[in-house]
Formats: sequence, structure tokens, C-alpha cells
Amino acid sequence: MNATSPPPFRNPPLSRALAAAAAAVAEVLVGRTPEVALAALPIELRPAARDLALTTLRDHGRGDFFLARLLERPLKDKAARALLLVALARLERRPTDAHTLVDQAVEAAAKPFKKLTNAILRNFQRRRAELIAAAEADELAHWRHPRWWLALLREAYPERWREIAASGNAHPPMTLRLNARCRVTSAEFLAQLAEAGGAGQALDETAILLEPPLPVERLPGFQEGCVSVQDWGAQRAARLLDARDGMRVLDACAAPGGKAAHLLELADLELTALEVDALRARRIEENLARLHLAATVKIGDARKPADWWDGRPFERILADVPCSASGVVRRHPDIKWLRRPEDVAGFAQTQAAILDALWPLMAPGGKMLYCTCSVFPAENGGQVRAFLARHPDARRLPTGGSEEELQLLPSATHDGFYYALLEKTP
Ligand SMILES: C[S@@+](CC[C@H](N)C(=O)[O-])C[C@H]1O[C@@H](n2cnc3c(N)ncnc32)[C@H](O)[C@@H]1O
Repeated sequence: MNATSPPPFRNPPLSRALAAAAAAVAEVLVGRTPEVALAALPIELRPAARDLALTTLRDHGRGDFFLARLLERPLKDKAARALLLVALARLERRPTDAHTLVDQAVEAAAKPFKKLTNAILRNFQRRRAELIAAAEADELAHWRHPRWWLALLREAYPERWREIAASGNAHPPMTLRLNARCRVTSAEFLAQLAEAGGAGQALDETAILLEPPLPVERLPGFQEGCVSVQDWGAQRAARLLDARDGMRVLDACAAPGGKAAHLLELADLELTALEVDALRARRIEENLARLHLAATVKIGDARKPADWWDGRPFERILADVPCSASGVVRRHPDIKWLRRPEDVAGFAQTQAAILDALWPLMAPGGKMLYCTCSVFPAENGGQVRAFLARHPDARRLPTGGSEEELQLLPSATHDGFYYALLEKTP
């Protein structure tokens, strides 16, 4: 190290990471997103706190189950309770570090809660086998999803709901999309990755599964715009939409711009990227700038084309609508605990309004790709069937092979996504 280089980045003491993660969890449990809650933490604490907080949120139903058996009376203090949830999640996963963990959690606890924190965590250690056996026998604690969510999964996927719930609790894969304009083959990229100390496997010509994940700064070609992070399931969208050079295309719910960028990497398009949230719309511009791509970014509501449409029909429309995100819950574990059952019907209503408002904007013979990152049928097959019943000039096109729709369930290689391709009869 020379005199001018910064000091090496050290892992913060575990007690600080636990306290920071607990602060983030407490915020999330009252409705903030993890991104916002983590952004409020000192920068050096964020990576460790993120890991601890997301693990805790994935396990939340289980942590509550343990606390209900360990606390003599309800613990009203949200911060103290969140710290116990973080510590229990870690304690269950890493029993060999129990001694250090308990000490550090007590250190992290506010003064009035140090004794209680110590007592609860030591008690968990003593009763560990009995408590874990009881959790395994309890549906919510075992599957770590709310009961209403499990009921929806069971009804829609009587054979596969367990697999879907288990994937919802797993660590998500990190997948890359190679920019076709850079003309780097997956084999060439894998060789560059190995040189940079990374490893992965090609899922297809442009999708690379990183094993293990790496920070983007270490990815060869990231700064140059030759590679982006995008789930493999999300990478289906651009190819399914089949947009060709010169077409007028609308991405109606575009931020942060992953699918818009992919569309532009594959063809020279006149692309309008619409987004209702002005802050999120900025992310589209940043992402496109890194990739040296261009689109007309508009801030507006897809349900109100009169506010933003110039009256010229589109030949392709991507409707990647807001949804329950039940197919990406392992990336956003807060969703499981913050959503309410009635939210699914609320999303379905918004989705129907977006579809109905966009349909008149499409040229005859044009194609619309409807897409969600949900596994709930009300937002997917049910939504599209109702749309087809309302619009006699719409028909489905296959989404690969003879499939009328594509329901990807979350797996080791991709998230849960739904796709239906709709053509406007000429
Ligand atoms: C699933 S995300 C889109 C992801 C994006 N297509 C991508 O691949 O990066 C849905 C987006 O739709 C936006 N949105 C929600 N309601 C909208 C509306 N009524 N009109 C336009 N955008 C909307 C949300 O703010 C969110 O950014």
C-alpha cells in the first residue's frame, strides 16, 4: 500500500452490524423498503447489515414463532425486538458462532434491554432442538411465508407450492446479460471473468449465471456497458416481444430500464420508455447512458395516455406491469410480510386498467407483451383471459413452442415471471 491509497476496508464489529441490521429491519416492518432503510445507515455498515437484515426478513415468520415461545410477555420496543429477530436468525444458521453472537448482540442492545437480550438468546441456545422441532411442525414457521400467501400458492400449484415457497426463501442467483452490441461471446466473457477472479456458467448465448456473485465493479466490461445484471427470467421479455429495426416501441412501465435496455441492445428502435415515478425514471436514463443506448424517457401514467401520447401508434408494447412481486420474493423478502391479501386484487385492477388504456395505442398487427414477476394467477392467466374477453380484436400468440402463456416458477436459475403475447388483429 502506498502513502496515498485509502486504508483497507475492514469488516465492522459484529455488534455494530447487528445494531444496524436491526434498525433496518425495524424500519422495514413499519413499511419502508429495505433499500431506503439500508441507505440511511453509515456506508461501511451497509453490506454486512444488508446480509443480516435480508436473512432476518426471509426468516421473519420463524423469528416471530421463536419469540412467541421465548418471551414471557410481548416486547413492545420495536428496536429491541428487531435486534432479537436478527440475532435469532443468525444464531439458528450459525450455531458454532453462538458464543460470540450472543455477546455481540448484548453489546448491540440498548441498555434497558441488555439483560433481556442475553436471557432470550441463551434460552434459545438451551432449547434449540425443541424449538426448531416445533418450528418445523408449524406451517408459517416452516415455510416462512404468511398463511394467506401459502393458501394462494397451494390453490394454484397443488403439486409445486412447496418448491415455490422453498425457492422464495433461498438466496437469489446473480445473472448477467451480455450486451449483444459488444459482440463478446459467452465463452470469451467467461474467460475474462476467470482472469478477474470470478466464475460462472453460460445459461444461453447472452446470459451468464455468476457463481458466486461478484460486485459489479469487478465484472469485466461493466463500466463499458457490455454487461448488465438481469435475471434470466427477465431476459425472456426482449426476445419474446420480437421488436425489429426501425419499429416504434413503447415500454409502458419502464424503470429501472432493464428490459428497455435489452430491447435496444437487440435492435435499433424508436423507443418510448414511460414511467410514472419520476425518481425511478432517472434510473432509466442512468442505465441507458452506461450502455450507450438512447430512448425517449417520459414521466407519465400508463392509464392516462392523453397526458403523454403523441397519437402515433406503436408496433410493439411492453407492459411490464406493477404486481405483487410474488415471483421475486427471495430478492425482496419484505414483500411477504408487508403485502396484504387484498393487495393482489388491487394490483389486478391496476393491471387491467393499464392494459385497457394501452391497447388503443397499438397499430393493427402490432404485438403487446404482458409481463409480471408474479406467480399468482389473478395477475397472470386470469388477467389475460379477462382482457381477451373484453377485446375481441386481441388474440394470443405462442410464447415459445406451442405455449399460450409462459409461467416461469422461481428456480435456481431464474425468478418467477409470467408472459403472455397479444396480437392486435390486422
Ligand atoms: C416491474 S417494474 C418495471 C421493470 C422494468 N420494466 C425493467 O425491466 O427494468 C414496474 C414499473 O412500473 C411503474 N409503474 C407503476 N404504475 C405505473 C403506471 N400506472 N404507469 C407507468 N408506470 C407505472 C413502477 O414505478 C415500476 O417502476
